[in-house]
Order: sequence, then structure tokens, then C-alpha cells
Amino acid sequence: MPHRKSYFELLEPNYLFPQVKARAEAFAKSKPEVKLASFGIGDVSLPLVSSISKALEKASYEMSLSSGFKGYGPEQGYLWLREKISDEIYQNKISPDEIFISDGAKCDIARILTWLPPKTTFALQTPCYPAFNDAIHLIAGKQIQYLDCELLTACPIDIESISADVLVLVNPNNPSGHLLDKQVLQSLINQSFKNNFIILYDSAYQAFIRDENYPKSIYELEGAEEKVIEISSFSKRAGFTGLRLGWSVISKKLRYKGCENSPVDDFRRLIQTLFNGASYLSQVAGLAALSEEGLKETTIQLNTYLHRAQILAKGLKQAGMQVSGGMHSPFVWAKPLQSQLSSWQLFDYFLHELGWICTPGSGFGKKAEGFVRFSGFASQDSVDQALSQLSSFDTFNFPKEF
Ligand code: MLT
Repeated sequence: MPHRKSYFELLEPNYLFPQVKARAEAFAKSKPEVKLASFGIGDVSLPLVSSISKALEKASYEMSLSSGFKGYGPEQGYLWLREKISDEIYQNKISPDEIFISDGAKCDIARILTWLPPKTTFALQTPCYPAFNDAIHLIAGKQIQYLDCELLTACPIDIESISADVLVLVNPNNPSGHLLDKQVLQSLINQSFKNNFIILYDSAYQAFIRDENYPKSIYELEGAEEKVIEISSFSKRAGFTGLRLGWSVISKKLRYKGCENSPVDDFRRLIQTLFNGASYLSQVAGLAALSEEGLKETTIQLNTYLHRAQILAKGLKQAGMQVSGGMHSPFVWAKPLQSQLSSWQLFDYFLHELGWICTPGSGFGKKAEGFVRFSGFASQDSVDQALSQLSSFDTFNFPKEF
């Protein structure tokens, strides 16, 4: 056996969400009488809509026929799905051969990091979805510039200071729920030309954007095709956390520093080696999710999650917390107005005092200590429980220590 990869030293023993799960399970075991309300991991709670489940039924029957059976598909994904994404999400600004269908955003983060050269450096927002931080540590070692950000929104304060090769941008942000506007996005793209970095753009929550004044796709902005690699997903837009489907965009306009080889061709080469394509069934389901009926049905679900997040945000605010999110995102990001408790102490307070499972903010970046995140993907039962508990007191009574 070789030595242990030293990069593991840079990580907590467990990823954030398994830590949350383990603490919640231990509590549930010790206090089986407490009813839990789950606002932790951003996992969907509503079932697949009928246009998607019908498409899956039809496709699985088709797979049982010799005339309809499918083995390996194209590594880059079926053309009919790439054409649909090109049309529906990018209004044909991005062509199907620039779209790579994947088995989910997390796996694409790993593949993109594998594709980039080993000494690539990264700049991260705080707070930021922790898979980026951990995957960069695991695959590339410690090469992260943590940007100074406004902690309630994750908005970078001094964009001129970005000195890494790659800026990771999650928009709408997970966990803060904040949505960057056109002006900020354009200035980041302009800065990427000046400081010579590219933007790795995570748009997993893009379908929650409800304001026409915000760009639906980053590629609407000038220069984006030359500077942005996008990672996206069906998990949150259509409830595919169990099905697994996503995509990435590598534009033909991207150029390497100092050589004429084509990044999109190299990425295709990497995919051909490391991936055998997303499953046919998931891709059929993805096509159904982007059909007229699928979009109608999934929008109703997304609005339900947004509504739950807004109810939570209002309740948390009334009970003495500073909050953001819930408008273009299913997440509510919160910090007590008055309390010095750490994120994990707050997590324990909510779990032990109220039976609520949330996510400690420090898991999204050390500087986010003192914050917690609540997920509007929670079930209606959990939201009702929280509302009824909140109605029985005026403000949270946070102790000095917990
Ligand atoms: C989250 O809760 O932030 C994510 O949905 C979990 C994940 O995708 O790993």
C-alpha cells in the first residue's frame, strides 16, 4: 500500500452533511420522544412530477424490449438532451457540442479539477458550498485564496484582489441564497480578463431565480463564453437528487494560457476516459423535465420550496435573527442578532431545544462562524412544526454557552 495522500490532512474527518446526519441520528437515538424538523441537507422532499415519472416508466419498458434496449450511450450525453438544454437554458447561445451531460454537479467538480493542471490555484467565496473547498484540497492540495466577502450575502468585497487562476462562483449562492446582479457579474468577468483568471460557475439553483432583471444564464453577459465554465444540475430544478443528472458547459471560445490546443476537445478526451455517460433513464427524465409540461409542473414545486423558505425566513427574523436568502433560493442563511455562540453550538441549541436540524454555517467556510443555514426543501410537516413552535415564544433565548 502506498503512503496516505497528505491532502487528507487538510480535511475534517467527515464531509459536512454526514457530520450533521451523525449528530442528528445520535440525538434521535437518545431522545426518541422528540419530534424532529429537518432543515439540514438541501435534499428535495417532494416526489417526481408526473411528466417525469411517466417518461421514466415508458423508457424502462422500452429498455425491456430488444428493439428499445440501450447499452453504453455517448460519453458526452445523448444529442437530444444536449439540444434541449442548448435551446431551453441557453436560447441556443451555447451549442450542443459545448454541453457535457453528467451524473451530477459533484462528479463534474471532480472531473473538472482533474482536467485542470495540478498547480492551478483557486479563489473561493465565503460562504461557499463545501464540496468545492474539499474537492480542491483532495485533488489539488492546498491552493485556495479565501476572498473577503460580505458574510450575509457571500458577495466578494474587493474583486481586484483576486489573484488565483480560477474563481469559484456559486450563484444563487449556497448557502446564503444571495443572487448576484448583472452589474456584479459583468464586473467579475471584466476582472477575469484583467487578472487572467477563469470563472468556475455553479448554477445549480438557477431555476429559483424569479426576477426578470437578473440574468438567467451567465452566458448572456459579455465575454462570458471566453471566461466561464458552468456546472449545473437537475437535482434542485427537478428533484433529481436520487436520479442523478447534471451538465457542464465548456465553450469553444475558452483558450488555454500559452497554447493553441482546444480546452473543449481536451475535456471531451477526459470524459471519454473517465466516464461512460449518464444513464439513459436519467437522461430521458431530464428531457421530460425540460418539456413544456415538465417545466410547468416543476415550477410549481420550486415555488412551494421558495414559499417554505420565505416562511422560515420570516419566522427566524421575528425571533431575533439576521437573515438572507429565500427569494431566489431555497436556503435561508441566518445569524442571531445577539449571541456569541459558534455555528455548531447554534446547531446543538436548535436540535436540543427545538428538535430542528439545520446546517452549521462554519461548514461553508471558517469565517462564516456564528451562522446557520435552514433549507426550504424541508417537508411541509417540518415547516408546520417550526411555525407552531415559533408561535409559542417571542425571541430565541440563546444562552452564553451551549
Ligand atoms: C447542500 O445541502 O448544500 C447540497 O445540496 C448538498 C450536496 O449537494 O452535496
